[in-house]
Amino acid sequence: MAIQRPKGTQDIIPGTIEKWHFLENQIRKICSEYGYKEIRTPIFEATELFQRGVGETTDIVNKEMYTFFDKGQRSITLRPEGTASVCRAYVENKLYGLPQPVKLYYLGPMFRYENTQAGRFRQFHQFGAEVLGGENPLVDAEVIHLIWEFFRRIGLKGLEVHINSVGCPVCRTDHRDKLQHYLKDRKTDLCVDCQTRFERNPMRILDCKNNKCQALTHNVPTTLDTLCDECKEHFESVQKFLKVSGIEYRINPKMVRGLDYYQRTAFEVMAEGIGAQSAICGGGRYDGLVKEIGGPPTPGIGFAMGIERILAVLENQKIELDNTPDNKVLIAALGNVARSEGFKLLSQFREAGISILMDLMGRGLKSQMKYADREGVRYVLILGDEEISKDIIIVRDMKLGDQAEIPRDTILRYILNNINTSIEVI
Ligand code: HAM
Repeated sequence: MAIQRPKGTQDIIPGTIEKWHFLENQIRKICSEYGYKEIRTPIFEATELFQRGVGETTDIVNKEMYTFFDKGQRSITLRPEGTASVCRAYVENKLYGLPQPVKLYYLGPMFRYENTQAGRFRQFHQFGAEVLGGENPLVDAEVIHLIWEFFRRIGLKGLEVHINSVGCPVCRTDHRDKLQHYLKDRKTDLCVDCQTRFERNPMRILDCKNNKCQALTHNVPTTLDTLCDECKEHFESVQKFLKVSGIEYRINPKMVRGLDYYQRTAFEVMAEGIGAQSAICGGGRYDGLVKEIGGPPTPGIGFAMGIERILAVLENQKIELDNTPDNKVLIAALGNVARSEGFKLLSQFREAGISILMDLMGRGLKSQMKYADREGVRYVLILGDEEISKDIIIVRDMKLGDQAEIPRDTILRYILNNINTSIEVI
């Protein structure tokens, strides 16, 4: 039997990869415009990083990590997310010595051993950004604006931005007490996971998807009810800046996020039409994380969005990704002499930086034209025995549907001129 790819993984093959390239280009462009620099961290890290960073009480660390011992008996984990790694790299490379805040972004595969379903993979890809060293609510608003603007540029519609504040360690203790007090007589009615959360991390009960838990937590004290003055003021300022930059958002006091490092601002972007996995982006502030993993006390905030989920929403909303006309050229050479002459031209065109193809299979004109169509070629250069004897090349413009006979020694200039004019038109 043929070997198949592991469950929860995908091959991204030509036909689809173009969409990835489009998104990746948009990501690099917007990050550069907003002043973010790329960071690349290892795909695997010491397991302890995620245990300490993401948190022992989270599903990610408890159930979903790809953890193994390497040959040196070190416990290694394939990264389930990017934030902990970026914070480790910030400390290890002493980026706290640079002017703050340090604005970083990343793009790459993450690994979680999840039950696979639509929009939920075991190897998936995130575009994420982290801002380290900035506590001001302006930073929160700028991060959310980047997400908002990115989705606007790629044309996603009907998105909802949910925001919340989960408070700081001081007001969280107060929330924990109030919540446990409220739920103590109903504890056994909670789902099994929430009964564990009740002791270890009661706040997480708020966003449990179990119907019974949701009913029981209908009127529970939320973190917003228990914010200390500083956290309250911070959250109000974040909202003020979101409003001035025109971002529409909804306060969702039950959205507390599934990773332990969050403090204060938390947010998610929800999209319709991709089933239960409706969060396409999530993030928040994590002011204690850098210190937790051994660095100097440093505030931080960031987000990550799932590329597979964005592509699913784009498909669902029937959004065609950018179709900028391509200026590709194809040499359709017929016969041995023409093929050799064509190959010479191929090299000259490539040296001039033109994107050009040639049939390498000795096919007839009809199938070469089909090849040109399939590849989205704009100009086909037809070269057969007759053209060789007349020292010309026939240039067919596939977009306009016309053709012209061009002297062979001016063909490169002719195509270059045409390409430059069509670039100006775009
Ligand atoms: P997260 O909410 O776990 O946050 O993941 C962020 C996004 O990654 C989700 O909204 C979703 O689009 C995508 N995602 C997560 N799991 C899967 C999966 N199994 N299959 C497909 N897509 C998935 C984080 O990872 C945090 N590190 C975000 C962050 C950055 N917070 C602060 N900075």
